[in-house]
Amino acid sequence: MKLGVFDSGIDGEAIAAALRLVFPTAIITTVNDHENVPYGSKTPSEIINLTDIAIQPLINANCDVIILACNTATAVAIETLRAKYPNQKFIGIEPMIKTAAELTKSHTIAVCATPATLASDRYSKLVKNFGDGISIIEPDCSDWAQMIENNQINHQLIDKTINDVCDRGADVIVLGCTHYNWIKDSIIKIVDGRAQVIEPSSAIGNRVKQLLQLS
Ligand code: DGL
Repeated sequence: MKLGVFDSGIDGEAIAAALRLVFPTAIITTVNDHENVPYGSKTPSEIINLTDIAIQPLINANCDVIILACNTATAVAIETLRAKYPNQKFIGIEPMIKTAAELTKSHTIAVCATPATLASDRYSKLVKNFGDGISIIEPDCSDWAQMIENNQINHQLIDKTINDVCDRGADVIVLGCTHYNWIKDSIIKIVDGRAQVIEPSSAIGNRVKQLLQLS
């Protein structure tokens, strides 16, 4: 089995490492776009073009599935890519609004994501379908992906942002950008039991199994 993993930056490697544990014999190829990261502050047409160019090695390798390990590329580009490559299977990653809505007791959640993800139609649909009666805080995380990519994390900024959403009553924090997985442990420490921190990376293996009908 051949799997291809794309992220604009460093997170494809983490997702690929998790997939290698689930599929030890699979050939897993990762590609990124270090030159153009962050995608989250770009226009939809830029994100679509850049993602399309970046995944060409995976398309040419005839991967059984290409995983867009990037909320931003999924939110903005996955439908265009599915239409352009109808024989190629894609899996995307999306902010876990549905799960958060099921978990919250305060009816307040926070979604940490890039500006492009938050502005996308796919995100609006998630909110419309699953966010009924829930108050959704969308803190400004526009600098986070770049900080994390460059390993220059402003811990004070993260601390302030997370404390603020907890103070405003969020009891579930959705990490809606795979870059933020690198600081998930720090976020959990800042939260200190006031909220659950959720992200979907551990579910990707099962999605691959379902899509390829392996179980
Ligand atoms: N890791 C990406 C995401 O999940 C993209 C971050 C960026 O390039 O701005 O959204």
